[in-house]
Amino acid sequence: MIEVAPDPDGLAHRAATRIVATAKRAITDRGECVLLLSGGTTPQATYARLATAPFANQIDWSRVHIALGDERYVSWDDPRSNFRMIREILTSQVPIPVANVHPVEVARPPIEAALAYERTLRTLLGSGRPDLVLLGLGDDGHTASLFPGHAAVREQVRWVVAEEIREQVMWRISVTPPLLNAAREVIFLVSGAAKADVLRSVLEPPRDPDSLPAQVIHPASGRLDWLVDAAAAGR
Ligand code: 6PG
Repeated sequence: MIEVAPDPDGLAHRAATRIVATAKRAITDRGECVLLLSGGTTPQATYARLATAPFANQIDWSRVHIALGDERYVSWDDPRSNFRMIREILTSQVPIPVANVHPVEVARPPIEAALAYERTLRTLLGSGRPDLVLLGLGDDGHTASLFPGHAAVREQVRWVVAEEIREQVMWRISVTPPLLNAAREVIFLVSGAAKADVLRSVLEPPRDPDSLPAQVIHPASGRLDWLVDAAAAGR
């Protein structure tokens, strides 16, 4: 489903509403909720809403687990760190147990960090699957840290990989399509006129995930929604 919010504020409101509904349902049905959150700037307004009334007090945070769909391979106090952003805006503002927040161990070398994170996620999920994956869309069509032309887009077995992204002069740790597509719900959050062209390219044929990695996301038995604002929907 594609839902168009009038503006970024409306987008954040709708996204926070969806996340609360998913968390309540998962906790009722399975006793806990596993969220795989996106980094970047787009979701920050959503996380800020989730951290405040009336959203924050509708969730039993003791039953929520937060992990990352991807991470920049930088220290946790680096301004580019997704964990730092999520901690500052959300997890430090709500009564979620520290043990329920699962950052990538970036103190290890990148490949080891990816292997360790996969172990973390496999332990966390057991035989289950993420209840919700929140994804952004880069203007080159990347999502999470699945970048055009990189092997991670085609990964079929591992849940987490590390790749050196030369155009970013950075290593990235990313969850891969096997886990992303196993989620019960995937929501892409896209905001701003700068994303209008790439959003149209991703949503329309041809399908070419090597060029537009966001096109690799099609949950096997989960729900895929695009929450976008009017500016991003401009094309
Ligand atoms: C990251 C994100 C990445 C992001 C897109 C869009 O680590 O940066 O996971 O996939 O969602 O790059 O970023 P913006 O929301 O900042 O445009």
